[in-house]
Amino acid sequence: MSVPVTNEIRREIERRRTFAIISHPDAGKTTLTEKLLLYGGALREAGAVRAQKATRHATSDWLELEKQRGISVSSSVLHFEFDEHRVNILDTPGHADFSEDTYRTLMAADSAVMLIDAARGVEPQTRKLCEVCKLRKIPIFTFVNKMDRHGRDPLDIMGEIEEVLGMDVVPVNWPVGAGSDFRGVYDRLDRRLVTFSGGDHGTHRVDETVVAGEPDSEAVMEAMGPFAQDALDGLELLEGAGAEFDTELVASGLQTPMFFGSALTNFGVHPFLERFLEMAPGPMPRVSAGEPVDPVERPFSGFVFKIQANMDPDHRDRIAFVRICSGHFVKGLQTSHVRTGKSIRLTNSTLLMGKDRADVDEAFAGDVVGLFDPGLFRIGDTLADEKKIVFAGIPIFAPESYMRVEVAGVQKRKALEKGIGQLVQEGVVQLFSDPEGGSASWILGAMGPLQFDVMKHRLKSEYGVDLTLSSLPYTLARWPQAGFDPEDFKYSERIRVVHDRDGNWALLAQSPWDFDRLLERNESLELAETPDPSLFESAH
Ligand code: G4P
Repeated sequence: MSVPVTNEIRREIERRRTFAIISHPDAGKTTLTEKLLLYGGALREAGAVRAQKATRHATSDWLELEKQRGISVSSSVLHFEFDEHRVNILDTPGHADFSEDTYRTLMAADSAVMLIDAARGVEPQTRKLCEVCKLRKIPIFTFVNKMDRHGRDPLDIMGEIEEVLGMDVVPVNWPVGAGSDFRGVYDRLDRRLVTFSGGDHGTHRVDETVVAGEPDSEAVMEAMGPFAQDALDGLELLEGAGAEFDTELVASGLQTPMFFGSALTNFGVHPFLERFLEMAPGPMPRVSAGEPVDPVERPFSGFVFKIQANMDPDHRDRIAFVRICSGHFVKGLQTSHVRTGKSIRLTNSTLLMGKDRADVDEAFAGDVVGLFDPGLFRIGDTLADEKKIVFAGIPIFAPESYMRVEVAGVQKRKALEKGIGQLVQEGVVQLFSDPEGGSASWILGAMGPLQFDVMKHRLKSEYGVDLTLSSLPYTLARWPQAGFDPEDFKYSERIRVVHDRDGNWALLAQSPWDFDRLLERNESLELAETPDPSLFESAH
């Protein structure tokens, strides 16, 4: 049933800003997230989130692993109100292994904030995540963090981003002073200087003093004090370089607006948040069968981007995270589950705030709601009032490490199968199998070893099964698209032919060189990096 678009619904949708923060571990994502919550009024005093980083999941046993390692392996959603905006932060896992979970979460975001450590510049994981954002063509905003420490020259960081990430960088503001002398930022758009003081080592909001004027005006120069000449030189260089903001280039991920600050001391967090919310897009149209679905004009639609079971050990339930793409959601909404054609009533919905949950009565395009899942949902599923809407599924990425499941000797085989089925459905790992071998030939694939540890840990704590894995030499997979005959690989030692979870043929190899050689020998063979390469192009 469609709900007529009222001005109120339009306003609610347009004021939403849904984004993810992408960074290499330790760049300060947890700290920045906490400070955004502080400025958004969701925290009265900062310190709690970071302090709880190692203990925050004490109630959840599979997250014991997070506690042991002091890392976050799961992701959540945070939200707050700021000015006229409703802000949704899609929190992604913060560990060094690159997981599918992060990819999927980026599919649900309308923009990304790329956090760079001022001393370290672009790091490997920043690069990978940035590539995904660029594939999806989502705007990337850069926040250069840790300006309170002596880092690299801002121009040097700009140059590195341009060179390594292939984006034009346009600084929105420019730092005045650095390290313990970092005292403010000059806002190039508003032509004003903002200086900071107080903040009680970052536990509270800082005091800001604003001086309007050109950088070389007397008032601004005076307020910049001993750092005036340095700042002026940098600003003049930028003006001379002439890179102008271009909303379209930002929207397509080719240009990134850049900000400077220190999440630790809160210096620069507020100017960033204000300006970012103004510049970042609200909910964007998503594509269904080649047609954009307008977030405001069309009735309720959304897609499942993540499923997580057993988040709360007291209630062994499964939650499907749904990103609302269009329209208005009200509790009890009758809508359609497009893959099965079933009509479903969404009575059991929850709003997630970190690990806390609250009933949700109403939500809008741009929001994420959690639906209690009776086992119906799969990642990528569309829910829509209009049955003809089908959002492109979520691409699967080729795992980079592979393990064989040792089934022999497992006593609780049923529980093992159930557990693996569940974790594969959640996307913790990918499942491949030998076409003839049944469960005796299960191969698990993941981006990195941590995912296997998570899997083992959860199988043990949730299903009571000890999983034994033995490592395999493969490091990548490709999905044949044309010119493929499994018979050709019967005697191949370096390439293994398997089925993926959906029954597609897939090839596992030890090195990219194996595939290069294969392609040289088979001119008609076409290989793709994901089972359905069209999903990337069609996501937007
Ligand atoms: P992550 O989630 O990206 O992994 O990073 P996180 O926020 O946990 O920050 C990693 C480390 O960097 C922490 O230090 C944190 O205090 C520090 N940090 C974050 N933002 C800033 C900043 O703006 N300036 C400075 N100087 N440091 C920053 P730690 O020593 O690992 O932890 P802790 O002892 O501070 O708890």
